[in-house]
Amino acid sequence: MIHIYKKGTNKNTLLLLHGTGGDESDLLEIGRIIDPEANVLSVRGNVKEGGMNRFFRRLSPGVFDLEDLEKRTQELYGFIDEASEKYGFDRDRVIALGYSNGANIAGSMLFSIKNALWGAILLRPMMPRRDKELVVNDNTKVFISAGTFDSICPPEESKELADHLKSKNKEVRLEWVNANHSLTYNELLVIRDWYIQNF
Ligand code: MLT
Repeated sequence: MIHIYKKGTNKNTLLLLHGTGGDESDLLEIGRIIDPEANVLSVRGNVKEGGMNRFFRRLSPGVFDLEDLEKRTQELYGFIDEASEKYGFDRDRVIALGYSNGANIAGSMLFSIKNALWGAILLRPMMPRRDKELVVNDNTKVFISAGTFDSICPPEESKELADHLKSKNKEVRLEWVNANHSLTYNELLVIRDWYIQNF
């Protein structure tokens, strides 16, 4: 997969996953705010939709192609493994930081792969799927940041995901932001505090 890797000075690796129409450079600055010392693996989604990069296909806005979602989730998982071999980062200390479509593929990992992530910061996520049980480890820590009037990723879907994680005894924090789909600087500061406490 097309990606940027930057070696850091601590043992954590931030896996950056952009939103629809973005690329691997989009979240570098946000990653730097959250943990300026971490390694960074920033990946470009392999799917094109009218020229826009995505991590998996959708049938229409908000309706995911679940077969492709599964395939791309496994592909991304395989890529993280390969990258950890190639660059020598600790595979057990990977924390995803995904926005929108990137948050949705990171969310999908929680349903498909037990040990893929040490943590997941999901910015404006939706409920990635309802046809599968969560398989993620109980100790994978999840942060969900939801916009109260997000018109692209409906806030009730972010809440549904958080409630679902909670109901299965997963560690999850849901933070409401008085915002639409765009991120705010303040929420990044809240995430940074949470990150420092947890990793
Ligand atoms: C998705 O397709 O993952 C969501 O609708 C969010 C987005 O538009 O990227």
